[in-house]
Amino acid sequence: MLWLKAFHLIFMVTWFAGLFYLPRLYVYHAMAEDTPSKERFKVMERKLFWGIMTPGGVLTLGFGSALLMAQSHWLGSGWMHFKLKLLALLVIYHIWCGKLLLDFKHDRNPHSHVWYRWFNEAPVLLLIGIVLLATLKPF
Ligand code: HEM
Repeated sequence: MLWLKAFHLIFMVTWFAGLFYLPRLYVYHAMAEDTPSKERFKVMERKLFWGIMTPGGVLTLGFGSALLMAQSHWLGSGWMHFKLKLLALLVIYHIWCGKLLLDFKHDRNPHSHVWYRWFNEAPVLLLIGIVLLATLKPF
């Protein structure tokens, strides 16, 4: 059980490294004007999304699900229901990042760098909410 929790947390950190850094790359990419810089950002973004962030997310969800199966009584608690709702938002955010990756790949980014700065704040709020729910289990 503790092993499952340890790997759940290790992959959660990996996932969040990407969720924080990829939108930051989008900020700089949206400001870039020369072709070599834009091409370099495309490579960095693709590697981060497919090489780190997506495997981190899949493994976090996998180890989280294994923990939940091992302790199915948590399914009856309010904090877990709320955590799963916030998780759904996090998965939607991840998929949205993937859509933006394709937009940048085809040089059709629709947003300003200021928009990406705000976009970058969403995972901070979700991280705070989910970790407080999982550790304090307030209800
Ligand atoms: C499908 C997704 C997930 C499921 C089913 C899940 C489920 C669980 C379960 C059952 C536990 C063990 C609770 C306990 O025994 O105390 C746990 C622990 C934890 N989870 Fe998740 N989790 C998921 C995703 C996440 C994510 C995305 C985060 C962070 C943003 C996260 C953060 C934590 C933390 C910090 C703990 C440790 C709580 C403690 O030991 O006090 N989980 N999770």
